[in-house]
Amino acid sequence: MKNLKERILKLKKEKNAVILAHYYQESDIQDVSDYVGDSLGLSQEAMQVHADIIVFAGVHFMAETAKILNPGKKVILPDLNAGCSLADSCPANLFQQFTQAHPDHIVITYVNCSAEVKALTDIVVTSSNAVKIVNSIPKDKPIIFAPDKNLGKYVMEQTDREMLLWDGACVVHEAFSLDKLIELYKQNPDAQIIAHPESETHILKTASYIGSTAGMIEYVKTNPANKFIVATEVGILHKMKLEVPDKILIPAPSNEDNTCACSQCGYMKVNTLQKLYDCLLNETPEIKVPADIMKKAFIPIERMLKLSR
Ligand code: 13P
Ligand code: SF4
Repeated sequence: MKNLKERILKLKKEKNAVILAHYYQESDIQDVSDYVGDSLGLSQEAMQVHADIIVFAGVHFMAETAKILNPGKKVILPDLNAGCSLADSCPANLFQQFTQAHPDHIVITYVNCSAEVKALTDIVVTSSNAVKIVNSIPKDKPIIFAPDKNLGKYVMEQTDREMLLWDGACVVHEAFSLDKLIELYKQNPDAQIIAHPESETHILKTASYIGSTAGMIEYVKTNPANKFIVATEVGILHKMKLEVPDKILIPAPSNEDNTCACSQCGYMKVNTLQKLYDCLLNETPEIKVPADIMKKAFIPIERMLKLSR
């Protein structure tokens, strides 16, 4: 393993590449990366890359966004099967029919969607800025929000406005078990529950803090509490533990019967250290986005980046 990590670092230098990773990637991948972040941070970082190659250790829509923001770079993804249930829930042809049926609506999409869907969008958002961006839209303007209905409901509640929601969800965040969470909290009454807004309303209601992955890490760093129950994908615990080694971090329990008894994103986990090495060595699979889609999709992402400042 050590050897593989060293070979990746060496190859990265030789090929003038950078590795950008999401917090849900396995720990070994995070350890060899130049930058680890949430969707917003990764987009901002990708835009500023000067190296020749971006190895995107995350899922397909994230790598696609990096390509759209920095089209001159070669963007490679360790495994093209690294998809996302939210992106899959929103095929572009059906979404186009939906937007055409509501032509007076502003179209806001969560970054977890395909480039084709982004090309049909007015403004993209991430979990870091969705509330702020929706609040920036004049109150009299009706809004379509897609594809995540759970994030959409949370944003509606925070902004006190109605939105037309697409019926998509994250399989990982919908897997949290309220009963098991309550039981765990009873055993740890001194813990604070923190949750990602892709979780369902009944989970969010239990949380002291709701935010993006980067927001959750910042919260555990700055909040004086010593124990947290963390309701998002378990990969985040790697970075959290590095940031707050003396605090107790407990992954929220999942309904799924799996080895970690927590929630894991199978899409994120198809990337492995070996696949990362192979993809850097062979410079494949490469992310390609048709030029017309790239041009259209850039506009709502750029709007988001401007509104996030
Ligand atoms: P963040 O932008 O909060 O990291 O969320 C990305 C994601 O896919 C969460 O499931
Ligand atoms: Fe998609 Fe959910 Fe995995 Fe995030 S955790 S990449 S939203 S399936």
